[in-house]
This record gives sequence, structure tokens and C-alpha cells, in this order.
Amino acid sequence: MLDSPRPFIDVRLTASNGGSMRKKLIAAAALAAALTLTACSGDGGNGNGGGDGGDNQVEVFTWWASGSEKVGLDALVKVFGEQHPDVEFINAAVAGGAGSNAKAALASRLEAKNPPDSFQAHAGAELSDYIAAGQLQDVSSLYTEFGLTDAFPKSLLDRLTVDGKIYSVPSNIHRANVVWVNPAVLEKAGIDASKAPATMEAWIADLQKLKDAGVETPLALGTEWTQMQLFETVLLSELGADGYSGLWNGDTQWTDPGVKKAAEDYKKLLGYANSDYAGLDWDAATQIVIDGNAGYNVMGDWAEAAFQQAGLKYDSDYTTWPVPGTDGVFDFLADSFTLPVGAPHEKAAKAWLQTVSSAEGQKAFNLAKGSIPARTDVDASEYPAYQQTAIASWSSDTVVSSLAHGAAAPVAWSSDISSAIGKFGSDGNVDSFLTALTDAAKKALG
Ligand code: GAL
Repeated sequence: MLDSPRPFIDVRLTASNGGSMRKKLIAAAALAAALTLTACSGDGGNGNGGGDGGDNQVEVFTWWASGSEKVGLDALVKVFGEQHPDVEFINAAVAGGAGSNAKAALASRLEAKNPPDSFQAHAGAELSDYIAAGQLQDVSSLYTEFGLTDAFPKSLLDRLTVDGKIYSVPSNIHRANVVWVNPAVLEKAGIDASKAPATMEAWIADLQKLKDAGVETPLALGTEWTQMQLFETVLLSELGADGYSGLWNGDTQWTDPGVKKAAEDYKKLLGYANSDYAGLDWDAATQIVIDGNAGYNVMGDWAEAAFQQAGLKYDSDYTTWPVPGTDGVFDFLADSFTLPVGAPHEKAAKAWLQTVSSAEGQKAFNLAKGSIPARTDVDASEYPAYQQTAIASWSSDTVVSSLAHGAAAPVAWSSDISSAIGKFGSDGNVDSFLTALTDAAKKALG
């Protein structure tokens, strides 16, 4: 739910209520003007329309509105309360996994020059969109002030930087190419969950074995962005790290036979999914595996938080492996927090960014969220088993950028790909899917 501190005045004039309504309208307009003045008085002369709206509250915009994601946010807010007890946290979360609703709501607010004090944004291409639109302030000075320059890996800072300026503070790193496996379901087909299939073909053969053993939903799947995430991992499996990364800079052509093979394999995978996938958010899809009604779900490691919170034990009740064919590759995304141009409570927003960047904040948040800290000063032994695997992979694997989570492609391009994936989900036409993907790349790369 959007929990905006700004008052909203709904003034409607109908033909039948003439004069008195006109008076009410004038009064309402005067009130609106007064409120606008109050809101604008937050511009502490910094020229960006934001500033000193007071230091005692901070409105933070995310899509971590419910379930395990809210538990993660709450853990971070708790540390914020300890570190900055005088600042009230205003939760402006908008529900919908991967920001499926939040991004549009945020865009309207930014367009209306009504930004929150800080908002969640993915490192990489998506962040560059906001930077190019002039919606973010440079926060490099906070890196000096909070001693962060060495706290984060350089490769990550590069994805937060444009023209030498840093535009956000990372809270975590997630891995997207993870299969979440229910061993008890696999046993029904005599499949050993502790051994990951070596290739996509071998995995598809196992999915068929599950089907033959009477498992109705071998693979749990959800709404469009989860389909896009599944497809990106199939591309990665087929093209390898370099081939996949080349898709985003033109080094790999979308007409490459590997892309066609990925589309065909992806179509086969859809054949093993729950029939209601289009209507499920990620948590509902992951829940099918947690409940023992599907063998597998490809999901980012925010799913770890859901398995933990359901009380399941790693390597007995559930296990994970990289999507077959992607072992040794870390399909990366990072959440980060920004200081928008015109943030009404700039000082409080900086306090929030301090907590987000702090060792205490990152530990509390990531333990609850399933991700790993963006900071490098991490003691892996303090994290549960799955996260220890992610910490090890992050430090040794080849890192590529996630498409579904804003790291690989700008918003306009990923929206075009998402539409093509949605259409493919209903018509299954490989040729028109490949044409749509090739056209989207041409439009984006020229
Ligand atoms: C990602 C985000 C994660 C998680 C996920 C599901 O885009 O980076 O933190 O929230 O969406 O909502």
C-alpha cells in the first residue's frame, strides 16, 4: 500500500451543485496552494526543490511490502531505529515482486516532482535510467563521510557510478540463477536431489521423469517477470557467461542459434509448469515447492528467506543448485537506495543511507532477506548454509547481470522483452518470439 505523507485533495465539480460547490472548490484550491507552499518550503535553497523538510522523518519507497521481504525491510528499519532514534520511518512500500507495480508508481511520483526521500533501485542499467533522467543526486560525498569507499567491491561501485559520480548506496547482492529443489518430491521419481543435472537437456529429462511419476507440477512458475528471469537463466545456460553478456552490448546477436535453442528449451520448461503461472507472484510460486507440490522453482535468493521462514532445513527439506549449465556463473543483481533530486527530508534520507551502508544494517537485513551483504567485511560463518554458498560463489564465479532485475538492460528494453515473453507464454510461437527479441535489441542498441 502506498503510504504517502502528502495530503491528497479530491475535488470534483458536478453540474447540479453550482454555486456552493464553486465556493468549496475555491477554498479547496486555496488549501491546496497552502499545502504546496508547505511542501515547497522544504527546498533549503539547494536548488533542487527538496531539502530541509525536517529531519524527523524519512519516507522510503520499496516493493518489500509483505511476507519475507517485509521481514527483511523490518530488520533494517529496526537497526535504523537504533542508529537514528529521532527519525520516524515512513514506509512507502508498493506491493508486487520485482517492483512490478512499484516502478510505475514511483515514475508517476518522480514525474509529479513528488519524490520519496529515498527509493530502492537496482544497480546497473536501471539505475542509469534514473541518472539519465536527472532524478538522482550524486552521493559520492557520503561515501567519504561514512568511510564507504573501500567497504564495497569495485565491480559493484562501477555499476552505481556514472561519469565518476556515485548515485546510490547498495544494501545487498542477490543471485538470480538458483534452482530451489524439494528432495521429497524428486524421490517420487527416484531422482537424487543432491546431484544437479549437468545440462539443460538432463534437467528437462528429469522434469519428464517427475511428470511420468505423477507429479502434476514439476516446475513452479509465476507471473511475467518470473518468466523473464527463468528465460534469462536458460539464455545463460545456452550461451555461457560471455555469450549472454554480449547480448546486452551487441557482441552477441539475437539471431544467434544459441538464442533459438534457448527459446526452444524455455518452451519445453513452460510445458512442465503450473497452468496458473501467469497469475502468481514469486512468493506464491515458491510456496508450491515449499508445500511439496512441485519439484523445482527458479528464483532469486530472496526465496531463501521464504524457505527459512517456513522452517525448512537446508540440504534436507530443500536444497539449491545453479540452473543447469550455469555452474560457476553468478547471475547478479543488487538493490540500492538513492537520494532523489527534491527529496523533502534530505538530512533524514542521508541518515537512512548511513544505516543501509553500515555493517550492522547490512547484517540484519541480509540475514533476513536471503541475500548477501554488498560490503566486503563479511564473516561468512555468521550466515546460514545457503548464504554461505552464495558468498563463496560471489567471490569466485564469473559475474553476469540479471535482465529481470534491472542490471543488464534499461527499463524500455526489458519491458519490450517482457512483453515478448508474455506473448510467447500464450502463443508458444518460437519464430515470432525470436523476431520480437531481435526487434527489441535493434530498437535498444540501434
Ligand atoms: C528483486 C529485488 C529483490 C526482491 C525481488 C522480488 O527485483 O531486487 O530484493 O525483492 O525483486 O520482489
